Amino acid sequence: MSIEIPVGLTELLQGYTVEVLRQRPSDLVDFAVQYFTRLRDTRSQDGASTGGKTGKGVMFDGEPMQTESNGEDDEDDDSDFEPPPPSRFNRRVSVCAEAFNPDEDDEDTEPRVVHPKTDVQRCRLQEACRDILLFKTLDQEQFSQVLDAMFELIVKPQEHVIDQGDDGDNFYVIERGVYDIVVSGKCVGQYNNKGSFGELALMYNTPRAATIIATQDGALWGLDRATFRRLIVKNNAKKRRMYECFIESVPLLKSLEATERMKLVDVLGAKQFTDGERIITQTKADHADNAEVEITRCTRGQYFGELALVTNKPRAASAYAVGDVKCLVIDIQAFERLLGSCKEIMKRNIAHYEEQLVALFGSSMDLRD
Ligand code: CMP
Repeated sequence: MSIEIPVGLTELLQGYTVEVLRQRPSDLVDFAVQYFTRLRDTRSQDGASTGGKTGKGVMFDGEPMQTESNGEDDEDDDSDFEPPPPSRFNRRVSVCAEAFNPDEDDEDTEPRVVHPKTDVQRCRLQEACRDILLFKTLDQEQFSQVLDAMFELIVKPQEHVIDQGDDGDNFYVIERGVYDIVVSGKCVGQYNNKGSFGELALMYNTPRAATIIATQDGALWGLDRATFRRLIVKNNAKKRRMYECFIESVPLLKSLEATERMKLVDVLGAKQFTDGERIITQTKADHADNAEVEITRCTRGQYFGELALVTNKPRAASAYAVGDVKCLVIDIQAFERLLGSCKEIMKRNIAHYEEQLVALFGSSMDLRD
């Protein structure tokens, strides 16, 4: 008996599967309801018939799935697509023009973006990118391609580098300047002369999650969306495979949803240290003779460096590598965004630090906020 597969079914399920793989929802059924509701709404907006085919603008029209490697400008691809209100099912999510298989080896078929730079510019750029976590897992060749593609941007006070709700065009690395992070009209943080922003919309095809405003004259380095996706997003797929199991085994992160844990993997960087190297530096020493005393040792799966972030106080202890050490690191903005729900656990653990100090010195420091 032959079974006829209805026209459009394969593409329909393929589109759903791509979104599941991309967004890794915790509940597949809920996600399916939202996904297909969204799809139906888009189709009726487009005035499509209720036949077997879905409307134009989305990929389920029996059309082959487009990928970035087909060399088409994705800005054109979705120009006739009506963006829905900001939600996770935003324009870039639902327009699968960008369906991107991070495992496809298209690196050599993509046209490379190169913005020529003077030696001085390249040195400044390299310095600005030195501690960017998202670049830490790139190999030398990939990093060099990223540097080639970056372009300089001078900004003025009050200039909006990014507006919440917009589509993502570039990723930005800060060379200098102070930038406010504004979410729904409220300032939630600031970048002070270092760091990077604008990765979320490019990684997850979502609208910009925050507005970024320069508070003074500043300089940024931009990286275009296509290069970011070709190199960074692709690398992230490898990073996910590499760290997925480890991150799932970290007790602190157990309270996070699986999707949140994956987002954490996406923004973390790996840093290596050799025996005796200082990883973090105590900002003030309260104990009279200033002699350093070992308080505790952390091993695989444990964490440190959170106290100053949870309490907004200076670093209360230094950490040194014992033997060769590899740490996974996230920056303060990602910490705030992704680990908010773990903060209570971390705060509870401050009590252990205080007990350790009492045992060692007979008195404790005021570690809390
Ligand atoms: P993106 O959404 O592409 O554009 C705005 C950027 O602001 C976002 O990526 C992050 O890089 C950055 N950002 C910093 N803090 C936050 C925050 N609390 N919520 C959302 N975005 C943030």
